[in-house]
Amino acid sequence: MKFRNFIEHCRKSAILRTVKKEVSQDLEIAAVLKSLDGRPVLFENVAGSKYAVVGGLYSSRDLVTEALEIGKSEMIRVLSGAIENHTKNEVVDSAPCQEIIESGVDLDKLPILRYFPRDGGRYVTSGLAITSDPEMGQNLCYHRLMQIGKNRFTARICEGRGTDTFLKRAGGELDIAISVGNSAAVMIAGAISAKKGVNELEIANSLEQTPVVKCKTKDLYVPADCEVVLEGRILAETVDEGPFVDLTETYDIIRKQPVIEITKITHRKNPVFEALLPGGLEHKLMMGMPMEPTIYHAVSKVCRCKNVAITEGGCSWLHAVVQIEKKNDGDARSAIDAAFEAHKSLKHCVVVDGDIDIYDMKDIEWALATRAQADRAKIFKAKGSSLDPSADEQTRMTSKAGIDATMHGDRKKFEKVAYKKVNPGDYV
Ligand SMILES: Cc1cc2nc3c(=O)[nH]c(=O)nc-3n(C[C@H](O)[C@H](O)[C@H](O)COP(=O)(O)O)c2cc1C
Repeated sequence: MKFRNFIEHCRKSAILRTVKKEVSQDLEIAAVLKSLDGRPVLFENVAGSKYAVVGGLYSSRDLVTEALEIGKSEMIRVLSGAIENHTKNEVVDSAPCQEIIESGVDLDKLPILRYFPRDGGRYVTSGLAITSDPEMGQNLCYHRLMQIGKNRFTARICEGRGTDTFLKRAGGELDIAISVGNSAAVMIAGAISAKKGVNELEIANSLEQTPVVKCKTKDLYVPADCEVVLEGRILAETVDEGPFVDLTETYDIIRKQPVIEITKITHRKNPVFEALLPGGLEHKLMMGMPMEPTIYHAVSKVCRCKNVAITEGGCSWLHAVVQIEKKNDGDARSAIDAAFEAHKSLKHCVVVDGDIDIYDMKDIEWALATRAQADRAKIFKAKGSSLDPSADEQTRMTSKAGIDATMHGDRKKFEKVAYKKVNPGDYV
């Protein structure tokens, strides 16, 4: 479903909370979003802005699968299919995101939120950056943007990601377009680290038809149906980015990051600006879920993998539960090795049998309590995530553990007993 259609869908199914009261982009909207995390909220009256703000639109697995019009259990299959068989986007000549072409650039007119008092500035958190390389084509990637002037941001551009690679290849300066207010298909595709040379907008197109339009001033193609497009250039100049809260709900360190100069803004009529709570459920889901098919594929190469869940409590990035159908005792160890190889930021991995509900932490802990032996765990040191506050700040070295919580030996002694099934309603 397109962004606006999905807002309407949420309104009709009474999931959407509509706030008509005037609200401030300074801390207030973020606080309301946090208090209703897991639910879409539309703020129709933002003080000093003609834009509405929506947040929490894709903040649960149910919302994401509804927006993609698929069943909850189909996610890994559908995502894997789209990653493998990405399709070319239709290029259109005129698009909703260019209904209004602003004559000048004034970022103060956008409802860019301040989330926490200690934040380095106001932040765009839902922006998807589109860049291009003469040989590798386009790339789509999230970059949080801290506003540092009427026409300037600084962006967190992680080393090794598509944007960083293109920027280095271009000699330190690069054209960029930032798309805000996108469909679930585009939001998920933007979080996928596809092979270099794969345009993630084509993955979005396989999830749901995603036409693109050429920017007004740059040779870049953006989702035609998005709400707002910021066109500009990443400069060689760097400034302090942060402090800002990341996935772990802790403050990320301040780093020197490139400046982005915005030179053109286009948007839809009555634009809706999308906000994404840093460290909130949507941030977590968007980070973790696209990594599940990657782990699933890697584990499937070494044993029979049934499912993978990146868990919310593990910041939706650092912990995975891998469910396997064990044929040999070595399968769990092979699954652990494959999972760590596939997801380099993974810190703790638990492997469970097919009878464990991998979306239920109590069931996972039960498997740990009754099936795991700590001295069977694989414990090792390796480079981990830059998001892990306990890792070495300079080298990112961290300790990792892979725990085999599968049954060993006689299965009968590990199986949870099942009582006779009755209908409690019959007993009054
Ligand atoms: C909500 C959200 C916010 C993100 N913020 C950033 C960010 O600020 N900087 C960054 O480099 N990556 C960020 N990421 C991660 C990248 O979008 C993700 O790793 C991407 O798939 C990289 O793909 P690429 O290697 O093809 O560029 C974020 C991801 C999500 C889901």
